Amino acid sequence: MCGIVGYIGNSRALDILLKGMKRLEYRGYDSAGIAVRNHDEIETEKRKGRVDDLELDGLFDGNIGIGHTRWATHGKPSDENSHPFFDCTGSLAIVHNGIIDNFVTLKEELEMAGHTFTSQTDSEVIAHMVEEYYSGDLLDAVTKTVSRLKGSYAIVVMHRDHQELIASRNQSPLVVGMGTEENLVASDVPALLDHTNEVKYLMDGDIVRITPDAVFIRDATGREVDRETKVIKWTVEDAEKGGFEHFMLKEIHEQPKAIHESLLGRLVEFDEVDFARYDIRHINIVSCGTSYHAGLVGKYIIESIAGIPCMLDLASEYRYSSPPDIYPFTVFISQSGETADTIGAAKEARRRGCKTLGITNVLDSSLTREVDEVIYTQAGPEIGVAATKTFTTQLIVLYLMAIELGLQRGKLLIEQAETYRNELRKLPRRVEVLLNDTEEIQDISKRVLANAEDIFFVGRNINYPVALEGALKLKEIAYIHAAGYPAGELKHGPFALLTRETPVVAICVKDSTYEKMLGNIGEIAARESPLIGVGQEDHELEKLCDEMVHIPDIPPLFSPVLINVVLQLFAYYTAYNLGRSIDKPRNLAKSVTVE
Ligand code: AGP
Repeated sequence: MCGIVGYIGNSRALDILLKGMKRLEYRGYDSAGIAVRNHDEIETEKRKGRVDDLELDGLFDGNIGIGHTRWATHGKPSDENSHPFFDCTGSLAIVHNGIIDNFVTLKEELEMAGHTFTSQTDSEVIAHMVEEYYSGDLLDAVTKTVSRLKGSYAIVVMHRDHQELIASRNQSPLVVGMGTEENLVASDVPALLDHTNEVKYLMDGDIVRITPDAVFIRDATGREVDRETKVIKWTVEDAEKGGFEHFMLKEIHEQPKAIHESLLGRLVEFDEVDFARYDIRHINIVSCGTSYHAGLVGKYIIESIAGIPCMLDLASEYRYSSPPDIYPFTVFISQSGETADTIGAAKEARRRGCKTLGITNVLDSSLTREVDEVIYTQAGPEIGVAATKTFTTQLIVLYLMAIELGLQRGKLLIEQAETYRNELRKLPRRVEVLLNDTEEIQDISKRVLANAEDIFFVGRNINYPVALEGALKLKEIAYIHAAGYPAGELKHGPFALLTRETPVVAICVKDSTYEKMLGNIGEIAARESPLIGVGQEDHELEKLCDEMVHIPDIPPLFSPVLINVVLQLFAYYTAYNLGRSIDKPRNLAKSVTVE
């Protein structure tokens, strides 16, 4: 996790670094720090807390610097464990995102050589290792250092005697931004966008030397290489709050646009992947958290539209499972494309001989290099730690993929495919209608949910995973214990927990489970739990529920998109009423780049 940024140019580095760091705080925010080269000295400030907590009076006038916002892995959040880290003489400083697996051995070696450490982190070994190898050539010292590192890293190194930054990456993201007489490097594009929209994504093993007017890259073999320059189409405003109190609320409201963008150009022909090249008899979907829930919904979508059996694995478990005797087409879903568990699982799937597809929102993210095929969701930047529009656009890609596979397998007639596509076309408008009237949701969140200690979310069939996702979102940002259940399962144990103090959010649509679901809701009502129904206008359902949120009319197969928006808003407004840190919930980070 962690966000890193480096600047070299003619402007005051401090201001640029701070802005960039704030845009990267979604990656981690338990400590922050900067180092700026000022007349051959490096000035630094770092401490536990957010970027805004840094004490920056007076100094910091140079125009080369590095910054860091941390999500602790080795060593608790503290001033000492905050980045940047220095060598023994204070001549060079480094920032690091990732985990150095062999840091204990390296630290012992460096201590034996006389280096003194000031933190409990793995990252500090990098500073001392560069010091150890340094003899006037910083690029050479960093090259030798990274050859000794095992694990994941994106690093930026500066030295008080050098008018340059040296950066490198392996399994942690790093992107170079090319400006006019200034260049930047950062963990993610939002930190660069004030200065340039021209970027180069570095590959694993790359080492880059950055000066105000040049970017020089060497690959893992030491060969000089160039990486394609990409032009980022979204703007700083796209990545800012745009009048909403929180990124999460802004991103929830951006869903009609995000769906539209994800469908754009794909409804006539969805040809990014030539599925016919693969013998797809089984599909295995592997992912984590919210992306796992998208995969679970995807199972229902693919099985019902394309008739292909789907299995699901949590990425964190996949690698440690015994491979079955089949080679399913394996789909990895990750909004960030940087989740360590998912990337590890993608490598393992390749090793097992499976053909693989990645579905991600982030251009050139690490996952894209570990899979045979990639489909991008087009959600735009998502800054809130809670995944909202990325989940919705993952579903859109899964619908499109299922239609394509259904057509190819002859399971779907062209007319039927067109009916499904029409439903997809209508989705942005339907979500908009829902978002135009959220008063009921706000009221229920405040009156019922924000006062509860435990909440159940229940659904059946394709809306069972949506119940899981509703519960996850509430736990994540409201810090209220919540559990998602298939409604028919409550009677096998959890009924014992139902009381007048345990609200139950019941998702009910008119699919094949409708009658049974009404029965399940009746059983819950008999236990006197406050019942909140979510579904279309439905007299039967309303009779059973204490509260009701209506969604626009929609065929059950597409209802997860709308229902999920309601549950996102429940989580948001509940957290809001409890005064939670909505965009940056405690103990979490946007992309989890450690196992
Ligand atoms: C969702 O709100 C969470 N932040 C989390 O569960 C997330 O979905 C999970 O960590 C997977 O992330 P990814 O999609 O970037 O791989």
